Amino acid sequence: MCGIVGYVGRENAREIIIDGLKRLEYRGYDSAGIAVVQNGKILLRKHVGGIANLENLIGDDPMTSGTGIGHTRWATHGAPSDLNAHPHLNGDGTIAVVHNGIIENYVELKEMLVRDHGVVFRSETDTEVIAHLIGVHYNGDLENAVYEAVSEMRGAYAISVIAAAEPEKIVAVRKDAPLIAGLGQGCNFIASDIPALLKYVKEIYLIENNEMVVLTPDSVKIYDENRQEVHRDVFHVTWDADAAEKEGYDHFMLKEIYEQPKGLYETLTRRLNEDGTIKLDGISMTKEEIEGFTKIYIVACGTAYHAGLVGKYIIEKLAKVPVEVDVASEFRYRDPFVDDKTLFIAISQSGETLDTLAALREAKRKGARVLSVVNVVGSSVARESDDVFYTWAGPEIAVASTKAYTTQLMCMYLIGLHMGYVRGTINREYYDQFIADLMTIPDKLKDCLAKNAGIIEGLSKMLYNKEQVFFIGRGLDSSVSYEGSLKLKEISYINSFAIAAGELKHGTIALMEPGTLVVTLATQDFLYEKMLSNIQEVKARGAHVLSIAKEGNTAIEAHSNEVIYIPACRDEITPLLSVVPLQLFAYYVAKERGCNIDKPKNLAKSVTVE
Ligand code: G6P
Repeated sequence: MCGIVGYVGRENAREIIIDGLKRLEYRGYDSAGIAVVQNGKILLRKHVGGIANLENLIGDDPMTSGTGIGHTRWATHGAPSDLNAHPHLNGDGTIAVVHNGIIENYVELKEMLVRDHGVVFRSETDTEVIAHLIGVHYNGDLENAVYEAVSEMRGAYAISVIAAAEPEKIVAVRKDAPLIAGLGQGCNFIASDIPALLKYVKEIYLIENNEMVVLTPDSVKIYDENRQEVHRDVFHVTWDADAAEKEGYDHFMLKEIYEQPKGLYETLTRRLNEDGTIKLDGISMTKEEIEGFTKIYIVACGTAYHAGLVGKYIIEKLAKVPVEVDVASEFRYRDPFVDDKTLFIAISQSGETLDTLAALREAKRKGARVLSVVNVVGSSVARESDDVFYTWAGPEIAVASTKAYTTQLMCMYLIGLHMGYVRGTINREYYDQFIADLMTIPDKLKDCLAKNAGIIEGLSKMLYNKEQVFFIGRGLDSSVSYEGSLKLKEISYINSFAIAAGELKHGTIALMEPGTLVVTLATQDFLYEKMLSNIQEVKARGAHVLSIAKEGNTAIEAHSNEVIYIPACRDEITPLLSVVPLQLFAYYVAKERGCNIDKPKNLAKSVTVE
């Protein structure tokens, strides 16, 4: 997804910007560019492909200015190309703009600029409209020109702008796309994401919607939409750049898989009081509100949506409230039944996924109470929610989500337990025992990783060349199989498909052939016999069966080609363990196939467009 980095100060802006852009590479992008103000002119370099292409293009160019903006682009309007890459310039090349998001009325603005101002467009992007719009309003005062331009734009955007005539200034605006300002000594920074700046600054301002920020080497000023200066508290970032490095693992994904015991431990223990009850920091929902909920929607995208599928099962079981799970891009357009007795739970690693954010706003508009489960502190979803349950996964860099998923699951258990206890649908003994069982998970997960990683790596060498793979399970295992299937397809590009095991016979079983790989999850004791029957159905048609079961449940071996065992635990919490062999399987298969594991093609870490 697009990334923005800007610098104004006395160092070489180009070096700092390129470094910052590299740190945003994990977000996914298809082209990169940079513009600096130098000797009263704007110097622009941009190139399709990786940042290395941009560096080659820059070569020994004397880009020595202390003011510049850079961008990594993920195409929305117009294919990836040199011309469509950002920054974009106005007609006479005196204004440069980088932009994340989408300008919804760009067609009408473009027509107006051509008709009334004779503008000639060079690219197919919506962003170029912004550059020309600022250009036609510019009369020596960049802030004013940006204000004028923004007042004519509709959509979601974070933009950063420089002007040839104002060499020590960056002006940036945010509306529905992330933007932060980094506070240096004799220099200041702008960026779309904290990791871009971590090497340089730990103190930042989180820019809010409809705010403008004006940066010079010695000042950072924030203004609201009425051009009034606003005070912002400094946000101290507590994690360092090292946390965003691979620490010896071949890939961020593997590192993040191994970070799950820690993430789960943190997510759980930071929410526990000394007496073992759930701590409610950041949660202001009252007992009466919790008792009054008649319906819960869990809304999210991708992996976070899969965490919601487990959440439905758990919350319905513990709190006895009907829960509906929906993908955010559907929820927002289907006029859902939401009222003031509805709890809306948004799940999002980044907290910036536009569909999730839009669904959240729709639910809020209709009167729902909004609780979010978010990994990125200070992100848009977190800020717009009534209550926030943070996951303590730490920064997740690999596009394929792993530790965010398991920590999201942990939050689902905590939310379910808290609501169930408050509503009187579970008693204290059950609540205490459940939390004690959750406390065993970090160690069990370490054990599971230690015992299984080598086995799964070996299996992957044997199974990596399958053309399609099916994942089946029942109950909670069915929810986890969706996540296992997504992991495999997104990083290995194998056509994989998940289906509730009982539904298999209603169509999908037609695809079974000798050698077809079927990954079966059979961790639910009360469904174990039923799963064995489903496994026999595919086995009878020649499928190669790789099963996941609890230690001790060995009957499955007679029906499977291979079995991976997870540590025994109560049925409700197996997803925290059973997903891990599936993550490892996806990882090692993708590795065997030579795929770009941390940055799979066509995918982005944070999807801030519709
Ligand atoms: C993208 C990512 C997925 C992620 C989804 C939702 O598609 O590639 O890994 O699950 O967005 O992201 P969020 O940040 O809202 O959890």
